[in-house]
Amino acid sequence: LPQAWRVPFSYLDRQFANIDDYLTDIKTLALSGDFTNGAALTEFENKFAETFGLPHAVGVASGTHALEIPLRLLGVGPGDEVITAANTFIATVSAIAMTGAKPVFVDNEDGYVIDPAGIEAAITPRTRAIMPVHYTGNLADMSAIMEIAQAHNLKVVEDGAQALGGQIDGQPVGSWGDAAGFSLHPLKNLNVWGEAGVVLTRSAELAHNVRLFRNYGLLLRDEAVLFGTNSRFDTLQAVIGNRLIKEVEFITSRRISHAERYDRAFSDLEGSISVPIRRAGVKHVFHLYIIRVDRRDELLAHLHGHGVEAKVHYPIPLHLQNASAHLGYKKGDFPVAERDVEQVITLPAHQHLTDEEVGYSIDQVRAFYGR
Ligand SMILES: Cc1ncc(COP(=O)(O)O)c(C=O)c1O
Repeated sequence: LPQAWRVPFSYLDRQFANIDDYLTDIKTLALSGDFTNGAALTEFENKFAETFGLPHAVGVASGTHALEIPLRLLGVGPGDEVITAANTFIATVSAIAMTGAKPVFVDNEDGYVIDPAGIEAAITPRTRAIMPVHYTGNLADMSAIMEIAQAHNLKVVEDGAQALGGQIDGQPVGSWGDAAGFSLHPLKNLNVWGEAGVVLTRSAELAHNVRLFRNYGLLLRDEAVLFGTNSRFDTLQAVIGNRLIKEVEFITSRRISHAERYDRAFSDLEGSISVPIRRAGVKHVFHLYIIRVDRRDELLAHLHGHGVEAKVHYPIPLHLQNASAHLGYKKGDFPVAERDVEQVITLPAHQHLTDEEVGYSIDQVRAFYGR
């Protein structure tokens, strides 16, 4: 039997207080039969673009496809190299590898995002693109990254899967690079009831090409202008998305406020806990509230023993995954990422936690350190 957590990591069972409204929308869709690239999807794409401040949003079948497809359409393929962070979720690197390009890793800095200083050194004549990951909901240093990209004529696709709604100096994720890919997986800040992803971009041309590519390359019913795939965003999921997207403001602000509360509560534990770094001008949306701690595994066991569903994101850096063996990396290549995997712990910080639950989680962490 699953453990009954006092402070759960997942919020899905709390999300649908008004589930009948969603089911009514699904029934309406079912009766219309408008399942394939339906009107609800267009509505969702328009709302998504407007909500997140870019002119074009194109739905695809997953967050992984939302990264892979723009890379391909920007010309990345076999023989090319794409630079990304060693401390990301596997899918970032899968997306690069699926284009046929070689992933090239760079270490992260203390804010869990790629260290721009390492990017320059990783560039070779084969480098075609950079895929910065706005990991945890913190944003990579896009000014520095775009400067490097422009100097070396590289494409940039931002992995925004964990950073929907994030900004730097008011400029949203996706407005910095050529495009950004987002995931609407059930545990993302904005989710649907299954799989879906979105590409955001300033470029009308790229948006047009993603629309073609996700639909076999068809321009008209019977005319293909390129060979694409079937990576359509399920219209049924768009029906769910159309309701949930209205809650984004609440979701983001609640997560930020939980994060600030945690920060304050740990401020006297500096020797044992490092709270997330905040760079000036960055709106960090806290998909994950990750801290670095002393005696991580003991703290994790203590929290689990007291009903707090803390997690580790993630225990193995990408350069040390078996899937990366052919790339020739070894332990010691990326000291910050390798330190982090030993020290990081993620505390529940989702929008449906009550103040009491966050308080309880804080009390349990403090008690572990004798406070
Ligand atoms: C950083 C990052 N990139 C990419 C993805 C892939 O998204 P999806 O699971 O929707 O394919 C995820 C989440 O799963 C992620 O966290």
